[in-house]
Amino acid sequence: MDFEKFEAWVLKDIGINLSAYKSNQLHRRISSLMTRIGVTTADEYIALLKRDLSERQRFLDFITINVSEFFRNPEMFDELSKLMKSEVLKNNKNLRVWSAACSIGAEPYSLAMILDDYAPKSRSYLLATDIDNTIINKAKMGEYSNSEVRNVKKDYMNKYFTLKNDKYFIDNKIKNMVTFKKHDLILDRYENDFDIIVCRNVVIYFNTDIKNEIYKKFSNSLKSGGLLFVGATESIYNYKEYGFEKASTFIYRKL
Ligand SMILES: C[S@@+](CC[C@H](N)C(=O)[O-])C[C@H]1O[C@@H](n2cnc3c(N)ncnc32)[C@H](O)[C@@H]1O
Repeated sequence: MDFEKFEAWVLKDIGINLSAYKSNQLHRRISSLMTRIGVTTADEYIALLKRDLSERQRFLDFITINVSEFFRNPEMFDELSKLMKSEVLKNNKNLRVWSAACSIGAEPYSLAMILDDYAPKSRSYLLATDIDNTIINKAKMGEYSNSEVRNVKKDYMNKYFTLKNDKYFIDNKIKNMVTFKKHDLILDRYENDFDIIVCRNVVIYFNTDIKNEIYKKFSNSLKSGGLLFVGATESIYNYKEYGFEKASTFIYRKL
């Protein structure tokens, strides 16, 4: 398999920069996907992706891995909530919050619930972005399964969800708090002046250089005192290099 050729085509035609991903892991995964589909060469796979839209979507789903749930790692969300209450919302109730690589929307909607709970009258801007338009459309629908809402606390469940035919529908009030946009963390420009950036379970797929670039850009996009909340396997050991201090195990404060 000529990965170089394949990656060049994917960047040109699909607009995803695969060279940003950890290459061994990525190549192993693409090879196993190709075996399942029954193609062996780059040319064969490119031809298939050119003519078959559903295979194209399958490849996108495969690359982007969009598993998520509400309050993923609840104890870490508790830490974030505490810091929001004790420092971020102390001086300013109108926050700018960004859920980057938000997948099905469970993450930004979790943040919206916390904000609505702690600062009900705030006029906060809650940006939620992902590279994958299909998943953004799913997020906008706000319809979830039992397993996706398993970490939602009882009072939030009662207040913000309606159960219909085994599906959990998020309240319109919470939905309307979130602005969804398509955004590629590697190729697109970042907005500025955020109080909180949440970016979890996506940089693990990127190589070190790209990861460093992203953390640098997050630091630039945060206000001083702003918080960066990362995933449970994504400790940033060199956080000082980006101008952060540690606020909690997986939360960093911009100096
Ligand atoms: C595993 S999900 C994480 C969802 C959520 N942050 C969480 O932790 O539950 C990873 C998401 O990253 C998105 N993604 C992958 N590459 C991306 C990129 N270059 N820019 C923005 N989002 C990307 C995928 O589409 C997917 O929805």
